[in-house]
Amino acid sequence: MHDGFWASIRNTTDHQDYFSRIDESDDAIFYNKERFVSHLDSLAMETVVDLIGQLVVEDNPVMLDLMASWDSHIPTRLQSCRITGLGLNETELKNNQVLSDYVIHDLNRDGRLPFSNGSFDVVLNTVSVDYLVNPIAVFREAGRVLKPGGLFLVIFSNRMFPDKAVKIWRESSEEERILLVENIFQETGSFDAPEVFISKGRPRPRDDKYAHWGTPSDPVYAVYAEKPGKTPSRKPRPAILSIMESKMNEGVLEHKKRQIHKTLQCPHCDEKMNKWAVPENPFEATWENEFLYICFNDNCSYYVRGWDHVYRTTSRIASYRFMYNQDKDICSPIPVPSSKALRESIIG
Ligand SMILES: C[S@@+](CC[C@H](N)C(=O)[O-])C[C@H]1O[C@@H](n2cnc3c(N)ncnc32)[C@H](O)[C@@H]1O
Repeated sequence: MHDGFWASIRNTTDHQDYFSRIDESDDAIFYNKERFVSHLDSLAMETVVDLIGQLVVEDNPVMLDLMASWDSHIPTRLQSCRITGLGLNETELKNNQVLSDYVIHDLNRDGRLPFSNGSFDVVLNTVSVDYLVNPIAVFREAGRVLKPGGLFLVIFSNRMFPDKAVKIWRESSEEERILLVENIFQETGSFDAPEVFISKGRPRPRDDKYAHWGTPSDPVYAVYAEKPGKTPSRKPRPAILSIMESKMNEGVLEHKKRQIHKTLQCPHCDEKMNKWAVPENPFEATWENEFLYICFNDNCSYYVRGWDHVYRTTSRIASYRFMYNQDKDICSPIPVPSSKALRESIIG
């Protein structure tokens, strides 16, 4: 997505084409059928709830769940807040336990939100942005109905109803979709610079109905931004990366690193590291050892937060694993593009 992308397609037939759908019939028809399903696996769902809990720092926020259904993924601490749902299926919305009220409103017929300026502290949009035919108008409206300093949190994954998703979404890679949503935020001119969160490559929960496929847990991506004008008294929203880092007490980490030659345990997750045979001429690096130790635990916090860190610093989808060189007593990261990478050389 190049700079000036929106300017180049605005008011052109390209815009109509990018935001066309296989099923162009009235959305009310498709969503007339209630779907009491979960759109993500349980681990990804937990990540969504956790993310909302971490980013919503207000004590008693007024929230809007945009494109809501029967579950708004609200953490317990926030469940008694005032939450309005906006969606298309009344039976689903009626069964949503956390909603104080709801409206049926088709955003693809009318992108305006039926709420006054500055009504909400938080607007959520979960696994639904791919269905908007005019996302810039809707994001602008989210900005209008937010209070100054309010949060618009857009969460998505890689599953979709393909017939209802817009073409640009269907045809983009996961990385491009992040850029697309960032771009929409920027194009509205209504928000501060958006932040990105990525959770990807973790093992699918064992009890998941697709666990036997061996595919990882559904990825969770979030792009979020504040409306400018936060009051100085409001708590700042935490950087998600630093929340993950703060889970590990630095002193304990250093102690574990000093013991690593005896324990051969990853200091970030305490799992035994695997003995890994150094391939011949690996990446032209000059490792003199025959083998090294690497933590291959897909739930290790070092590896999990690596996805977010690499994306923020290089815009690439990759992470790194914790590696220990026993001959030199040195710890370092080793980059990996996927959960499977490097595993073929595990020897113990
Ligand atoms: C994949 S579901 C996600 C539901 C919910 N946000 C969640 O996290 O489970 C997509 C939702 O978007 C809503 N939706 C789809 N098209 C819409 C439209 N044109 N206007 C308003 N809501 C829409 C549907 O009612 C449906 O609940």
